[in-house]
Amino acid sequence: MHLLLGQTITFSADPFKEPLAGCAKHERRGAVAIDGGMITDLGPADDLRTKYPQAQVTDYGDALISPGFVDAHAHYPQTAIIASWGKRLIDWLNSYTFPEESRFGDPAHAAEIAETYFDLVTAAGTTTTVSYCTIHPESVDAYFTAAAARGLRVLGGKTCMDRNAPDTLQDTAQSAYDDSKALLDRWHGRDRLSYVITPRFAPTSTPEQLDALGALWAENPDVLMQTHISEQHEEIAWVADLFPDAKDYLDVYERFGLIGPGALFGHAIHLTDRERDRIREVDASLIHCPTSNLFIGSGLFDMGGLMEQGHRIGLATDTGGGSSFSMLRTMAAAYEVGQLAGTPLHPAQLWWLATEGSAHALHMADRIGTLAPGSEADLAVIDLSSTHAIAQRAARAEDIWQAIFPTIMMGDDRAIKAVWANGSCLKS
Ligand code: GUN
Ligand code: ZN
Repeated sequence: MHLLLGQTITFSADPFKEPLAGCAKHERRGAVAIDGGMITDLGPADDLRTKYPQAQVTDYGDALISPGFVDAHAHYPQTAIIASWGKRLIDWLNSYTFPEESRFGDPAHAAEIAETYFDLVTAAGTTTTVSYCTIHPESVDAYFTAAAARGLRVLGGKTCMDRNAPDTLQDTAQSAYDDSKALLDRWHGRDRLSYVITPRFAPTSTPEQLDALGALWAENPDVLMQTHISEQHEEIAWVADLFPDAKDYLDVYERFGLIGPGALFGHAIHLTDRERDRIREVDASLIHCPTSNLFIGSGLFDMGGLMEQGHRIGLATDTGGGSSFSMLRTMAAAYEVGQLAGTPLHPAQLWWLATEGSAHALHMADRIGTLAPGSEADLAVIDLSSTHAIAQRAARAEDIWQAIFPTIMMGDDRAIKAVWANGSCLKS
């Protein structure tokens, strides 16, 4: 047994639904007990030290022991093209993304980028990622192999696309089905890995391919399905052209069985009222990608309105359309987008989104994203005074949220003092 000492915060309710005062409990001198990869106990440090006199103790002082961050939408193959200048979505895909993704049939390239990716995200305190891979099965093998070597709980899948992409990056309806099925059988449920059925988005799949992936999902209803929806106006108009019979963008997915409680819809910025209502009705998840939405110029996600409607929402980097690997930077962008949209998010709401909220969007909040006993021991230990600029501001803080907010707005990997995954220390 291991006892980690530091500040802790636990949420007893969703801070978007309940008044803040009642939903978060702060322990100034807290302890998290971990054993066999699980969190087994939580409480005041003095109590747990007395209760477990034999435990090995690591004292993180004033640092905050948090659940590891959960990044609910990313593209690990875009690691090396992050921060590519000057394009909007469709041109950005054609100019930067597709040429780079074309290289992932080479297992050595895929392995190298997967290693770099997990080095970067774990240094940033992220312990769960949900990634699109490329059309190549090799890209999926590289992703899951690198994650398993680090003991991480990750999700991902082969990105399927059989039109409107270079020849080097197209599969077919049949090969998308066959390869996805083989990868699902190989990886889903192995170690801490989960397969996600992954049609890239409506414009790059034929109706036949969407139909095949809808069938695969119906045959494997316990896996998640991820795709993109309503990110940019040009994209939405293109979908209307390609699928003239569909009522709207969401209806394209619905016609092929690609909607349900396990659906993860990335971006979801420009949804119609019908789409919002329908997504809420089926309890599908929306994934907010704020740095990406600013970087590619996509628009302002309506967090306030969608949360009020009761949507299930996760937070994500969308690396490399997003401009950072860090969920701290992503929380900051979510705050800024909230300000522009007239809904300033409280630091408790931001922190909840990056941990339990994202886990809830993945239907995994019983396993990750919280400090609850019975959860898996994936943790990020956060130094709340990691730079001079942050420290001098945090010194004025009157409560824990004022102490955390400067790190949300100005923090980076220097704030990540330690990372634990599956009960083992990955970074210290
Ligand atoms: N829509 C379809 N593919 C992508 C992608 O790779 N990134 C983003 N941001 N949007 C997409
Ligand atoms: Zn994406």
